[in-house]
Formats: sequence, structure tokens, C-alpha cells
Amino acid sequence: ADLSRANTLGLAARAGLLCVLHDPARLPELLAHPQLAGLPRRVLGGGSNLVMGRELPGVTIKLENRGRRLLDEQDDAVLLAVAGGENWHELVLWTLAQGWPGLENLALIPGSVGAAPIQNIGAYGLELKDRFHHLIARSLDDGSQRRFDLAQCRFGYRDSVFKHEEAGRWLIEEVVLQLPKRWQPKLDYGDLRARLGTAEPTAQAVAEAVMAVRRSKLPDPAVLGNAGSFFHNPVVSAEEHARLHVLFPDLIAYPLPDGRFKLAAGWLIERAGWKGRRLGPVGMYSEQALVLVNHGGADANDVARLAEAVTADVLARFGVRLTPEPVWW
Ligand code: EPU
Repeated sequence: ADLSRANTLGLAARAGLLCVLHDPARLPELLAHPQLAGLPRRVLGGGSNLVMGRELPGVTIKLENRGRRLLDEQDDAVLLAVAGGENWHELVLWTLAQGWPGLENLALIPGSVGAAPIQNIGAYGLELKDRFHHLIARSLDDGSQRRFDLAQCRFGYRDSVFKHEEAGRWLIEEVVLQLPKRWQPKLDYGDLRARLGTAEPTAQAVAEAVMAVRRSKLPDPAVLGNAGSFFHNPVVSAEEHARLHVLFPDLIAYPLPDGRFKLAAGWLIERAGWKGRRLGPVGMYSEQALVLVNHGGADANDVARLAEAVTADVLARFGVRLTPEPVWW
């Protein structure tokens, strides 16, 4: 099966075997099929945080389950159970329409609900973990169910247990979110507050501001293939930050609670001369240097070549090593 339209970078890719799964309860039956015995298995969500190789051996499972429901109403929160195959952004809009604010800062993030916990999606001062209750996953060995609570997911900045010990082992069937009843807008990131003026904004207004910022900086994958930010924002020690700050007084960095600093990778890449620059069919985006874009006809090797060139230049210039954010298949 051709997967070039199933990954937002639009890379040339083919799956040996593609199974579309509408009902996760049928996963045990699927995995027990003799044809799948011993084959590698992986789960495809929205394909928005992936660098796909040209040939994917084994079986690729595309989760297409649907459903969004109120699971429980507590004194201070509502719990919503959402199928992993739902689209994240549509979920955000739906919750706002239902009068359940809390996800507005995460509007317009591409991808599926089931993929959101894997890298703990985050934007504009809010992360999935801040609204997460638990999830239900199914083993890719035998299809059996397991619940992961907040602590078990070990969420960090663009990170979770699903990128470490549990990587590649689970299909995320359902995510349960916890939205606060006493909602307050989170406006501390960048110019969000300035964009919204002084009055207390509604959640809908926050969502619209976030969408406007994203549309102005991030390319629409339907127009220009991309996987959002391509590198993590690197975290450095206070000493390292001080050293860099002397050399580059306009360095953009955010202090972390533990005393370290998170550097704006987009700034480092821009300063290294890569903003808007191409290497073969791929390049770093002209409006946001942290976003790697496919100008057409690229494959994973082209992406790897550019990622290595950018990483090497940033390392040589700043002594800081960038790490790619997407998962590589
Ligand atoms: N900057 C530059 N040059 C650039 C790009 C950015 O100087 O080419 C500067 C900006 O001016 C700004 C700072 O770097 O002062 C940060 O830029 P921005 O606000 O665009 O955010 P970011 O740190 O580049 C992160 C996330 C995004 C998320 C935004 C908003 C990571 C790796 N990326 O980007 O997430 O939307 O913050 O919260 O943490 C994603 O993960 O795919 C993604 C888009």
C-alpha cells in the first residue's frame, strides 16, 4: 500500500501490509492471523510526527475507531473518553462547542488523539499531560488491554514512556481527558496575551488566537509537506547558557524550574543560516526555521541528509546538539 499521503511530510513510502482497524476489540483476532506471525507491527495515527522509510516491512495498522463521550462529571472536572482514531483538532473544536474549555491552546495540532500521548503534544504553554487522566492501550503482541495512568505515562517535554521502554509495543485505543470546571485561560506564552487584549478572553477567543499564530508560522501539510517542529528545543545547563549568552546576546532562551535553560532551536537554526534554505527536495521553512519541509518528491534519505547537515552546523557554531523530534520508521 502507498503511504505517501498517510504521512504529513509527504515522503515516498510503501507498507508491505496495511490493515485498517475500526474496532480495536478485534486486534487480538488480527494479530493471531497466521499471515502476521513473526512480522514486525506498528500503528499509524495521523502520520504527522513520522519520518517514514521507503519500504515498511511487516504490518502497519491504521487505527480508525471513532467516539467522544462524557465519561464522568466530578465536582471540579469533566472526564471525556475519546477514541484514539479521532482527529485531535476536531476534538478541540468539539469540546469548545460543548462548553468544555481547557484544550484551546492545543488547537490546530495535526494528528490523531491516540498519537497525542506518545510525544505529550504541547503548544502555547499547555501540554497534553496537563489535561490527561488515563489511557487504554492494547498490546501489539496479543491485543490484550492495559490501562496507563498519568504517572505511568512518565510525560516530559515531547516525551513519554511510549518513546522509551514501551516504544512500539502499544496501540492507544482510547484517551481519557480531564477538563477543569473552573477554567482559566493560559496566556503566558509569547505574544498570546498581547494578541488577545486586556479583557479576560473566552476559550474560543484563545483558540482563535492560537490558530492565527499557527497559521502564520506553520505550513499547512496539505500545501507543503512537514511534520511540525523537526527538532526539540535543546535544554542546556545554566553555565552553558551563560557561555552562549556572552557570545550571542540576542540568544532566545527560557529558564526552566530546575535552573536549566531551554533554547529556541528555531533561532539557532536561523542563525546557522538554514532558514528558507534547501538541500535537494527538502529545506528548512522560510517562516519558521524549526520546521523541515518537503518541496516535493523527497524520501527519508533526503530528510536524514538535511537533518544531519543542520545538526552539524548548529553544533559547530554553538556547541549545542539538536535531536530530531519525529519518530523514524
Ligand atoms: N525563532 C527564531 N527563528 C525561527 C523560529 C523561531 O528566531 O526561525 C524564535 C521565535 O522568534 C521565538 C522563539 O524562537 O522567539 C520560539 O519560537 P516559536 O514561538 O515559534 O516556538 P518554538 O519554540 O519554535 C515550540 C514547539 C511548537 C509549538 C510552539 C508554541 C517544540 C520543538 N516546538 O516551537 O510545537 O507550537 O513552541 O508553543 O517544542 C511541534 O512540536 O510540532 C510544534 C509545532
